[in-house]
Amino acid sequence: MEKIVILTGAGISAESGLGTFRDAGGLWQRYPLEDVATPEGFVRNPALVHEFYNARRAQAAAARPNPAHLALARLEAARRAEVLIVTQNVDALHEAAGSRNVLHMHGQLARALCHACGWRWEAPAAMSPRDACPGCGEAMTRPDVVWFGEIPHGMERIEAALVGAGLFAAIGTSGQVWPAAGFAQLASAAGAHTVELNLEPSAASADFDEFRQGRASEVVPAWVAELLD
Ligand code: OAD
Repeated sequence: MEKIVILTGAGISAESGLGTFRDAGGLWQRYPLEDVATPEGFVRNPALVHEFYNARRAQAAAARPNPAHLALARLEAARRAEVLIVTQNVDALHEAAGSRNVLHMHGQLARALCHACGWRWEAPAAMSPRDACPGCGEAMTRPDVVWFGEIPHGMERIEAALVGAGLFAAIGTSGQVWPAAGFAQLASAAGAHTVELNLEPSAASADFDEFRQGRASEVVPAWVAELLD
């Protein structure tokens, strides 16, 4: 069975009402990423970091999958190919749409992590610097999201999937954050056909065989329909 690896970024959730990072008015224009998305920022001001992710968790919990998430779930359910979604998103909209084979390389808002001992558990709706770790009891709990300077989750599995893929697609990601920005080159070097779906060409566009421009809610269902045709 053909293997398809699909990398998704903030652009796929934009039409579900969740903000992107680098578009005009994006999250990194409103919050310095050094303050809310680095281990050093967390140690400096854990209350601010929790405030930022608590707000994003509440927003994500209220969001619904859009036609792009739903189309990817249809592609997997059709079982004509083996589909792996590698998402940089910390929301759960792929799962809410029905996708099952989803790898959260940048972690998940719904999970908590102990910065002291590495224990992981389900995050409460609002986390606080006073929360104790259920494993070691230290009050160093943080959202289980990957910050700058940290290694993304599942890299070995992702690299093996990219090397074995017949088709690689990147949807709604700016191609500015590594290692995800290098996935098209890796898949391509191993023989995959590569497609980018985005509102505008990304920093990694030159690495793709094909570019489909438009809103994810329109171009993704059309692309999936072609694959299933
Ligand atoms: P970015 O905010 O960098 O890029 C969003 C991309 O989505 C851009 O290329 C837009 O053109 C595109 N886009 C916006 N609206 C769209 C729509 N309706 N349909 C299709 N495309 C659309 O977000 P990411 O690439 O996901 O990491 O960012 C990657 C990582 O950087 C994030 O996971 C996060 C961030 O720092 C961490 O926090 C570790």
